[in-house]
Amino acid sequence: MSELQQIGPVAILGFGNQGEAQALNLRESGIEVVVGARSGHAAETRARDLGFPVHPLAGAAAHAAVAAVLLPDEVVPTLWPELSSALQRGARLVFAHGYNLLYSRLALPASDVVVVAPTGPGRVLRALYQQGQGMPAYLAVHRDASGKAWGTAESYAIAIGCPAARHWRTTVREETEVDLFGEQAVLCGGMNALVTAAFETLSARGYSPEIAYLECVHQLKYLADLLHERGVAGMRRGISGTALFGDLTRGSRAAGADVRARMEGILEDIRSGAFAREWAAEEASGGRRLAELVEQASRHPIETARRAALGLAGDPEAEGGKSRKALSKN
Ligand SMILES: NC(=O)c1ccc[n+]([C@@H]2O[C@H](COP(=O)([O-])OP(=O)(O)OC[C@H]3O[C@@H](n4cnc5c(N)ncnc54)[C@H](OP(=O)(O)O)[C@@H]3O)[C@@H](O)[C@H]2O)c1
Repeated sequence: MSELQQIGPVAILGFGNQGEAQALNLRESGIEVVVGARSGHAAETRARDLGFPVHPLAGAAAHAAVAAVLLPDEVVPTLWPELSSALQRGARLVFAHGYNLLYSRLALPASDVVVVAPTGPGRVLRALYQQGQGMPAYLAVHRDASGKAWGTAESYAIAIGCPAARHWRTTVREETEVDLFGEQAVLCGGMNALVTAAFETLSARGYSPEIAYLECVHQLKYLADLLHERGVAGMRRGISGTALFGDLTRGSRAAGADVRARMEGILEDIRSGAFAREWAAEEASGGRRLAELVEQASRHPIETARRAALGLAGDPEAEGGKSRKALSKN
């Protein structure tokens, strides 16, 4: 019997991207799971349909020996007073990201608090688990009240499908700062800015927007897959000689020393807390600026080019994913 099975029920608070995958994997690992979801919303129905006992968030927290906080990071501080007052004394807390811990956005009880951060989306975590494979995870201990917090983090990680051989022990600071930097500089912000700039460069010189889209955006997946499988040097072995020469002689002109300097600025905003303060102010004002930025970006010609290039019709929001209205606190 694993340590987690001995400790008692795990409450999954938030049944979305991570919550659903973690709940399913925990259940198949023999752990008793209760789900917390707000009533009348999609997550509640989905969790019930999958056969989980579902309670309002605070009700599920009250059942838990271990509570996994798998709600959007930006909404947790608003929900926290009710959630934390419902927790049993000594209930252990698991977060999937250190954001609210590093920036001291929550008044925490005097129990164990750990971070178990899978290194990919929930649907991939679930698929790998079902294939009998595992996903790497970052583990960190924010507070070790029992002296057993690392053990809790490790057994939780194993039960959600991140095997011990793929655990990376880190700190809340490193996990949070590197995660934010990665998504801002490369994975989301940097990548989107780079492909948009390339698309605009070609379109402005009269090249067909559809061909510019296919070349600079759509094909990215094939190269990203090579990079994922083989690393930078291995990817370079998989491309043509002409592409290789262009890569090594021109790539640093697209993103060179000046980009490094700007990346330093992005990192400094994360390390100083300036980014977190700006994001908190945005949430507090109802998320209007973010909604406007999303709306503005959705009208960029790159979206029209995408629909034309891929033969898609209709409403881009119908294609799935998050639409960003002003942030709702309920
Ligand atoms: N996404 C990833 O790939 C990933 C990877 C590693 C770690 N993480 C971390 O995992 C945690 C959870 O992220 P996530 O992406 O899984 O979250 P998410 O899918 O965006 O949200 C989880 C659920 O929270 C509910 N929710 C949203 N707003 C709410 C509110 N105001 N009150 C109550 N419930 C609300 C939603 O369900 P309803 O709207 O149906 O109520 C949603 O399904 C975060 O700490 C994140 O940083 C995420």
